[in-house]
Amino acid sequence: MSKKTFYITTPIYYPSDKLHVGHSYTTVAADAMARFKRLTGFDVWFLTGTDEHGQKIQRSAENAGKSPQHFVDEIVAGIKDLWSALDISYDDFIRTTEPRHKQVVQEIFDRLYRQGDIYRGRYEGWYCTPCESFWTARQVVEGNCPDCGRPVELVTEEGYFFRMSKYAGRLLEHINNNPDFIQPPSRKNEMINNFLRPGLEDLCVSRATFKWGIPVPFDSEHVIYVWLDALSNYITALGYGRDETLFHKYWPADVHLMAKEIVRFHTIYWPIFLMALGLPLPKQVFGHGWLIMKEGKMSKSKGNVIDPMVLIERYGSDSLRYYLLREIPFGADGVFSNEAMLQRFNTDLANDLGNLLSRTLTMVERFFGGIIPAPADGEELPSDRELRELALSMPSRITQLMDKLQFSSALETLWTLVRRSNKYIDENAPWLLAKKEGERKRLGTVLYNLCEALRFISVLLLPYMPRTPMRIWSQLGIDTMTHLQRWDSLEKWGLLKPGIKAQRTADLFPRLDIEKELASLLEGKDDLEKKEKAKEFSAGELDSFKEGKSAVSESSSLDTDGKEQSSMEKTEYISIEDFARVDIRVGEIISAEPVPKADRLLKLEVKLGDEVRQIVAGIAQYYSPESLVGKKALFAVNLKPAKIRGLLSEGMILAATSPDGKVVLTTVDSDVPAGSKIS
Ligand code: ME8
Repeated sequence: MSKKTFYITTPIYYPSDKLHVGHSYTTVAADAMARFKRLTGFDVWFLTGTDEHGQKIQRSAENAGKSPQHFVDEIVAGIKDLWSALDISYDDFIRTTEPRHKQVVQEIFDRLYRQGDIYRGRYEGWYCTPCESFWTARQVVEGNCPDCGRPVELVTEEGYFFRMSKYAGRLLEHINNNPDFIQPPSRKNEMINNFLRPGLEDLCVSRATFKWGIPVPFDSEHVIYVWLDALSNYITALGYGRDETLFHKYWPADVHLMAKEIVRFHTIYWPIFLMALGLPLPKQVFGHGWLIMKEGKMSKSKGNVIDPMVLIERYGSDSLRYYLLREIPFGADGVFSNEAMLQRFNTDLANDLGNLLSRTLTMVERFFGGIIPAPADGEELPSDRELRELALSMPSRITQLMDKLQFSSALETLWTLVRRSNKYIDENAPWLLAKKEGERKRLGTVLYNLCEALRFISVLLLPYMPRTPMRIWSQLGIDTMTHLQRWDSLEKWGLLKPGIKAQRTADLFPRLDIEKELASLLEGKDDLEKKEKAKEFSAGELDSFKEGKSAVSESSSLDTDGKEQSSMEKTEYISIEDFARVDIRVGEIISAEPVPKADRLLKLEVKLGDEVRQIVAGIAQYYSPESLVGKKALFAVNLKPAKIRGLLSEGMILAATSPDGKVVLTTVDSDVPAGSKIS
């Protein structure tokens, strides 16, 4: 049997400037939905793209001193980079300047003209360029656009008109007969009361005072109105009017996603154009709310936009995706605030999810040598049953919410399982079971159940945070067991096989120092970098930035030439007690990787006895990551943890600096276990 199809779209964005976090909001939501549908067995087509014609783009290009095509090409490259950084899994990216789109739009225009739906006339009225929208004198509010509040311009030009009124009755009937067509319902009432009931005027569908658009096929003085051009993308991208295989498979769209300000174009103009073409209407148009800042809606002209790339670089794409999807009920407006975002990272991600994994795996390591234990046969206490039943109830509850695009509630529901699992640890206190004779089996059951709950959580997380599940699987030791990563594996509790070697490594989401982060986010990026460097000094880490010199340990005494000074003269004596306060241990480096955008830093995972710590060290110029793995070196382990380039560093590697400035790690004379104390 062929799979059910699901076609989802985002608006095609104007490449008039870099996109901000508001655009990411819609795209992340569409991506989460596309991933959810794929995970649950649908054949999905997910379309996004860019709306590249029109007066707004032409003006932006002129201001930048570039040709419109050159101007948009550059911005579109940045948009694609952003979607890649956010793990947007689109199936197609349509640009309205592509021939596959332009040709078909001309054919559509031609056909509508020939069948009499488009006629020639003269337009006199108002135009809002930022919204690319026509308004009548009655609609304009004191010289401003009723949608965005910016000044409108008087337009008097020859043009082509579309007979909207001819289809208004059919559209009203469709809206009334299909309650799901416009969602949420409040938007439906707005469309009916504000636009359809007062009566639809014919729409001007061409412009003659600028050139940056698709020419009217039979009249090169005019370009096609950008909204007729743009809305058609949803079918031209599927090959409508050319090779229609995808079109037959996926049209009508299951959902067009956007924010509320463009619902009007999608629920009035678009369905009417489709009716005129004799095509079925999309099943749903969902207009979500706005991300607003204290100063109002996020917009470039207000200068209050948040650059998603900065947040991704600092906190990772999964964290940003989580915040966008979790914070605001989808449909409503919501305030974007750095503080609320950082709080969410710490409470939901670091405390709830991150701790659940690290607590569980630390205990599996400590009590079972890292091997996932078997649950005892036949034994199920009330807390086990509750955990199992809650986990098994997740797929259907989350599906119901996702079918209504309720991302925030879906994540809230999933977090009941995360929190229940943490509570399960507290209720069962495995560390006490470990001390009691005869409780070994029970201890095995408790830790097994926690690992299985984590497996459920990781699969359920896939649509929202696509990277985190893989990190959980790798720590649980199931990264190659794809059957345990599928949605249908959540039909049964207990599929995780005991006996697998788990491996606790880095924390999933290190806790953030909110005040410091807020200060850094407020400062510009340049300042931020200076501050990061300053933090590296203050943390007493290997200092790789001092006057551009090599990585040098704070404790070594070097002059600016890198030569050793007469050390006994320089040294201030300390007591043996002072020395004893520094806890130096042998650590085994189990992984090493570069820190993005920090040439001198490496992120190490260091085994110190039972514990694995993350330590950031300024030695990248002297050691390749591969050469370090497996090496034993000395580490100061009771320094106050520090944040370096946003990464938590819980210790300092000790190194000597040779007279020519080379950094050489301190190692041990013969093999001793990791964790051994130096005294
Ligand atoms: O309107 N909050 O493009 P556009 C939430 N090209 N969503 C936001 C947002 C915010 N503060 N800011 C932007 C256009 N968005 C047309 C669309 S479709 C055939 C043509 C999102 O670049 C939201 O989805 O102005 C909104 O509808 C869209 O970006 C507007 O993007």
